[in-house]
Amino acid sequence: MKARITVLPGDGIGPEVVAAALRVLQRVAEVYGHQFEFQEGLIGGIAIDQTGDPLPEETLALCRASDAILLGAVGGPRWDDPSAPIRPEQGLLRLRKELNLFANLRPVKLYRPLLDASPLKPDIVAGVDLLVVRELTGGIYFGPRGREGNRAYDTAVYTVEEIERVLHVAFRLSRQRRRKVTSVDKANVLTTSRLWRETAIAVGRMYPDVELEHLLVDACAMMLMLRPTHFDVVVTENMFGDILTDEAAVLAGSIGMLPSASLGEDGPGLYEPIHGSAPALAGRDVANPLATILSVAMLLRHSLGLETEAAAVEQAVAAVLEEGYRTQDIAQPGTRVVGTREMGEKVVQKIAAVGKSVHEGG
Ligand code: IPM
Ligand code: MG
Repeated sequence: MKARITVLPGDGIGPEVVAAALRVLQRVAEVYGHQFEFQEGLIGGIAIDQTGDPLPEETLALCRASDAILLGAVGGPRWDDPSAPIRPEQGLLRLRKELNLFANLRPVKLYRPLLDASPLKPDIVAGVDLLVVRELTGGIYFGPRGREGNRAYDTAVYTVEEIERVLHVAFRLSRQRRRKVTSVDKANVLTTSRLWRETAIAVGRMYPDVELEHLLVDACAMMLMLRPTHFDVVVTENMFGDILTDEAAVLAGSIGMLPSASLGEDGPGLYEPIHGSAPALAGRDVANPLATILSVAMLLRHSLGLETEAAAVEQAVAAVLEEGYRTQDIAQPGTRVVGTREMGEKVVQKIAAVGKSVHEGG
């Protein structure tokens, strides 16, 4: 197949992890006979430096005209002045909003060789395989805000329609999994959360084959550490989802392992690791590219409908971990520490092998 992919490396380790992931995409194209056309755009701090805008119109136009978008990370200390009127993160938030990418899928899966990489006890994290569906274009991230001298405010706003559509995504995805949805809110305090829960109950009635439970966000934060295998699909509002997925990353051994897909009703999906630009690691060839490589797998699956290819990438990652290769964030005694580039190449080599055996097997 032919596909147009917009590549937005961004800041910090973004360009390095994206380069590794692109090699993997190119390998997939070679092995499976696809034609992927790549076009690069500016976003975040580098876009501010070069154009004054964290999401230049040109980048937005490229994104709109593509089948999928692969993004690295945005932000860094250079643009961190709290009084600066323009910030790199605004570029990412605006891109999500402009493309109406309201459903953010964040799978949290523990790869077996990383059982001991988490600071949590192996018997707690063994078998972790959950999916957080984070609402991405509403809530306190986008509500009215302001600053008046010594007073500042942000506002969480949700409509029933915004809650319904992301809940439908969660319920539908749960049917491909273990048919259990945990809706997370703060309904004992927040009005938006009471609307969220009311809507979750109503939408849940349309999926009688799926079990629905409600959990307050503070209890959910604790439960994720105590009994993470309790969860199948977790669906929640924008900021709770942001916080809970960084927490959940501990289950997978490192935030460097967690990919994401941001999807709308139609149009291109946006794929990015959930980690940030990690300025301290930038330019040193030490960052873990696997979150971005696994995001490429999600891109193949959700935007291009290439399930076999997506699975091949995921199996390649698993195989490389089985063989003992580790970036420094997931290193353990007895494993072989490699850099960003080498880790990417190890995955690339496995895809050749996986792809070949698929062909040979007919
Ligand atoms: C994420 C990030 C972003 C967010 C930042 C960079 C704006 O933390 O994707 O989780 O808060 O959504
Ligand atoms: Mg975050």
